[in-house]
Amino acid sequence: MLEDSQAVLEIWGRSSLSGNVQISGAKNSALVLMAGSILCPGKCTLRNVPNLVDIKRMGQILEALGVKLKRQDDVIEIDATKINPTEAPYDVVSQLRASFFVIGPLLTRLGTARVPLPGGCAIGARPVDLHVRGLQAMGASVSIEDGVVHANLVGNKQRLQGGKIYLDYPSVGATETILMAATLAKGETKIENAAQEPEIVDLANFCNQMGAKVTGAGTNTITIQGVQELSSIEYNVIPDRIEAGTFLVAGAITKSEITLSSVIPEHLAPVIAKLNEIGCQIVIEDEAGKTFGGDIQSKRLRIVPGELCGTDIETLPYPGFPTDMQAQFTALLSISKGNSVISETVFENRLRHVAELQRMGTNIRVKGNHAIVQGVAMISGAPVMATDLRASAALVLAGLAAEGKTTVHGLQHLDRGYEDLESKLRGLGAKLERIIPEGT
Ligand code: UD1
Repeated sequence: MLEDSQAVLEIWGRSSLSGNVQISGAKNSALVLMAGSILCPGKCTLRNVPNLVDIKRMGQILEALGVKLKRQDDVIEIDATKINPTEAPYDVVSQLRASFFVIGPLLTRLGTARVPLPGGCAIGARPVDLHVRGLQAMGASVSIEDGVVHANLVGNKQRLQGGKIYLDYPSVGATETILMAATLAKGETKIENAAQEPEIVDLANFCNQMGAKVTGAGTNTITIQGVQELSSIEYNVIPDRIEAGTFLVAGAITKSEITLSSVIPEHLAPVIAKLNEIGCQIVIEDEAGKTFGGDIQSKRLRIVPGELCGTDIETLPYPGFPTDMQAQFTALLSISKGNSVISETVFENRLRHVAELQRMGTNIRVKGNHAIVQGVAMISGAPVMATDLRASAALVLAGLAAEGKTTVHGLQHLDRGYEDLESKLRGLGAKLERIIPEGT
């Protein structure tokens, strides 16, 4: 994994892929579990943590708060016996939206938190109003001063107070913030219209293993009975459903049969349904894999590609089609026969990859939050610029299918969220190479 904005990825397309790829732990789950670890005044060990720039940044935030971290391979030991009530460092928070999620655990454990407004991918405004309103509903006073969110317990209160919170939108991050804050609050908290993503269930399982009392995660109503203290555990992060989805698209776009190990197929239900509609078959196979969330056994997925045909896609909160797979499917549909309409409803500025895909000979028009795709038989390699994390994956996928050479710039986005993407693709037979300019 490199963190080098000057590097480019050169891809020579039209190779057939074959073989098996190991799916890493979920970035979005690992990030929130790292934040959640500070709920426990002791050591938590997270396993199956991907080696990514975003994970490194979250580690830097925790260390700045006085937490001790040890990393070996895919295991991170987080010792939050001591945490300082200092401000989370702006230069890291501004690069990683998920780092804002420390606000809930900090506030509920220390009674005070100061976290700068977050950054992350340039895919929309991404406010934090729902997080803030949730914490206020639990009795916190929250103000924003000079770009920093200050959250405090009011008066001489020792703990947050459980409350009833209806989210105007089932925000993943806000559900996570409130869930974590509520684990140590006094009394019961109910989150209505909660996000139902697998990462929320993973967080609830993690908190429950530490001794929290969370029920209903994975449905739209989550109930949390606050407890006095949480204790140390070891925990396996769930597999990354977006990385798995990206590799399924790699199989489909190159018309190659490949298998993916360490997958939880139910987490990919909307992605598998769309791949079936487009003309690919996905076979679920048993494997002697790992167990996640207490009792979920991982499986292997085999994609058997077929003649690709267009379909319509609308991104939605889980269990709808994930916005984090939209760019990859835009690339796939651009070479699928017929017309497709892709509607992005979760983020307002998440079709910027279209302009880059157009450089490769695709026929896509953007109208508002819709991409109207007319499938073409062939696309050709070109220099392209990644604009965000999943857009970078879409360009790599398009490069695998294109005639000739594609050069992907802006790899700092890719490195945020895909562990060893190049070596994993190379292991499947793709021809690609990272070029690092001399002197950098
Ligand atoms: C998480 C994921 C991200 C994924 C997204 C939607 C992490 C680290 N990131 O991001 O990969 O694309 O879920 O599945 O887990 N919103 C508000 N106010 C708020 C919070 C959110 O208006 O307080 C809006 C956002 O601007 C966006 C929508 O709600 O339009 C969804 O955002 P949210 O579900 O919160 O996404 P994140 O948690 O940031």
